[in-house]
Amino acid sequence: MTSLGEVLRLSTEHLAAKGSETPRLDAERLLAKAVGLERIELYMALDRPLTPLELDAARVLVSRRARREPLQYVLGEWGFRRLTLTVDRRALIPRPETEVLVERALALLAGLDRPRVLDVGTGSGAIALAIADEHPGAVVTGLDCSVDALALAAENAARTGLAIELARHDLFRGLPDGPWDLIVSNPPYVDAADLPTLQPEVRDWEPHGALSAEGAVEAVVRGAVAVLALAGGLALEVGAGQTGATAALLQEFGLVEVRVTPDLRGIDRVVEGVRP
Ligand SMILES: C[S@@+](CC[C@H](N)C(=O)[O-])C[C@H]1O[C@@H](n2cnc3c(N)ncnc32)[C@H](O)[C@@H]1O
Repeated sequence: MTSLGEVLRLSTEHLAAKGSETPRLDAERLLAKAVGLERIELYMALDRPLTPLELDAARVLVSRRARREPLQYVLGEWGFRRLTLTVDRRALIPRPETEVLVERALALLAGLDRPRVLDVGTGSGAIALAIADEHPGAVVTGLDCSVDALALAAENAARTGLAIELARHDLFRGLPDGPWDLIVSNPPYVDAADLPTLQPEVRDWEPHGALSAEGAVEAVVRGAVAVLALAGGLALEVGAGQTGATAALLQEFGLVEVRVTPDLRGIDRVVEGVRP
């Protein structure tokens, strides 16, 4: 009978050979899921043999990851702020840098009892749901052009028990009438020419419409200034190297108190401003 420790070692080697940058961590998370333990509990059970069913489950999960499917999609759920969300190919995987965007969004909402908030390009619903969770008075709408993403966001709203509105809307057609106290967005910001250079996990598995849409950042800014409330805030996540141009754009459109915040790796990432 193969022990958990042995399967962990073999899975780690296999994932490393297939190019995972975090083979040990991946193997631990996948095996924990296969045997129904917390990752930390694996270490107290390394000598325990796997049942044939557990071994089959582990094989399926590890071979999915070996094809460079993102760990998050294989696990089927991922943490974002205080929430655990369902994640799958219908939408982008929520990223740690987007948690910083939520942090700035919450700061812009400080002192408002029932602010109206619009999340443009809501994807899995991560930003909209985190704001609804952490600023309970907020009335939050998430919009997306993708029916698949909206279905996933609705599942996440049900899963977390948080009430948000969801709407199908194309951001290139302007933004829905406000006035909104806050507009927040992590728009597609990867240059289409850079898509082939991305990690296989991103390039081959995440929806390209969530990664890249030329002109989306400018369209969100242009749309936002038309529907923001007076003193309403706009907070955007953009790509590395795009914050300078985005901050200039916000100023060009008349927003004030323009500010840039770095992500957890120290890369300038979030740009915000306020309608005077
Ligand atoms: C970078 S993803 C962000 C997803 C989620 N907000 C997050 O931060 O994890 C961008 C989202 O914008 C949506 N999107 C792309 N083009 C759009 C458009 N023209 N109108 C509305 N949404 C769009 C995509 O479907 C995707 O869900």
